[in-house]
Amino acid sequence: MIKPIKTIQPNDPNESNEGTKPKGISAADRAARAFRKRFGMEPAQVASAPGRVNLIGEHVDYTEGIVLPFAIDPRAAIAIGPSTDHQSTFVAEDLAASVTYPGPPSVVPDPSPAHRFANHLLGVLHAAGGTDGRTLNILVASDIPIGAGLSSSAAVEVALGAALAAWLDRPTNPHALARQAQIAEHDFVGTPCGIMDMLISAAGIAGHAIRIDCRDLQLTPVAMPRPEEAEVLIVDSGVTHRLSDGGYADRRASCERVQTILAGSLRDASLESLCDSRISDRDRTRATHVIEENARVNAAVAALETGDLSLLGEILLDGHRSLRQLFEVSIPELDCIVDTAAELRGDGCFGARMTGGGFGGSALLLVATTAVESVRKTVEQRFASTYGRTPTSMTVRACQGVRIES
Ligand code: GLA
Repeated sequence: MIKPIKTIQPNDPNESNEGTKPKGISAADRAARAFRKRFGMEPAQVASAPGRVNLIGEHVDYTEGIVLPFAIDPRAAIAIGPSTDHQSTFVAEDLAASVTYPGPPSVVPDPSPAHRFANHLLGVLHAAGGTDGRTLNILVASDIPIGAGLSSSAAVEVALGAALAAWLDRPTNPHALARQAQIAEHDFVGTPCGIMDMLISAAGIAGHAIRIDCRDLQLTPVAMPRPEEAEVLIVDSGVTHRLSDGGYADRRASCERVQTILAGSLRDASLESLCDSRISDRDRTRATHVIEENARVNAAVAALETGDLSLLGEILLDGHRSLRQLFEVSIPELDCIVDTAAELRGDGCFGARMTGGGFGGSALLLVATTAVESVRKTVEQRFASTYGRTPTSMTVRACQGVRIES
């Protein structure tokens, strides 16, 4: 479904060694192939789950807000199977990293910085209720660029939850997979994230964004524009973000302080209620973003439903202004991409905004299909003239969520 304009993580297409991504081979096939090579047997199960782009609804999922993400084609895959050596080995093919534990995997985080990747897996195994005392091998392969704000971690976690459930013949569903992934992030990785990334990775529907009500986790599919009409272009700032670095937790803490003062969720708060003098100026500004962002999501859903892409573009630009000025999670590189996109409004670009947690990562541009190449070129040129390097970009379409691969 993806139409790469440029791959974000360039690899030699002719190579097939570990750590490279042979052209045209899916993450699932790479995971299965590397599993066979490493462990000398077929995996018991292979599952894959997608990355995501959030169309709008940023920094509202952890205050019971409304978000509008869609699953994208780059996927992470997990191959899983029993081990025969009384040890459990995890291999991350793209990171050229591996770790072996004696016996079944532990139920506590691995403190070693070199095994950071393993905590995503340990956390899911723990949240899923363990492995029934079995030792196992896990091979991870992913096409989702790390640090580009496209939820590579959530995809790995959701894929593992699905592979594990299939292997151990346990019932599961998208909400359970998302919850397990979130527990892994909170308790093993140290990222106090919301539920959006994992839930869309588990529940994505081809051709649709999904309006997620983060209060009751109700999912409402909303059709994306037809591909003949408009495309979503992702431009990666090249600035790697890491949500465990502190800025994310700081924003979340602001929202929680306001909620404590108001004795209720920001989802129910009005702008007037923020006049409470116990709320600091900074927290008030951030909470203003949250309240207005929830309204923008509903407006965006209405614009998609009526096919008003020009209005949708305006809403995206408004959302970016708010993240930049009120919530303060944008960076100059993302602003440069979005400002250039805004200047191209008469030339086929409907609108743009940063997507994801911020402090780096990617911007999304909603572009008339006929104008994708020219918009991309102008944005790349402007970025290159400012920062001395060309950003990578790709168009993405809404895809299916997690699946067991045959
Ligand atoms: C990250 C988090 C999500 C969400 C976004 C901001 O992607 O993982 O839960 O909070 O940031 O909208």
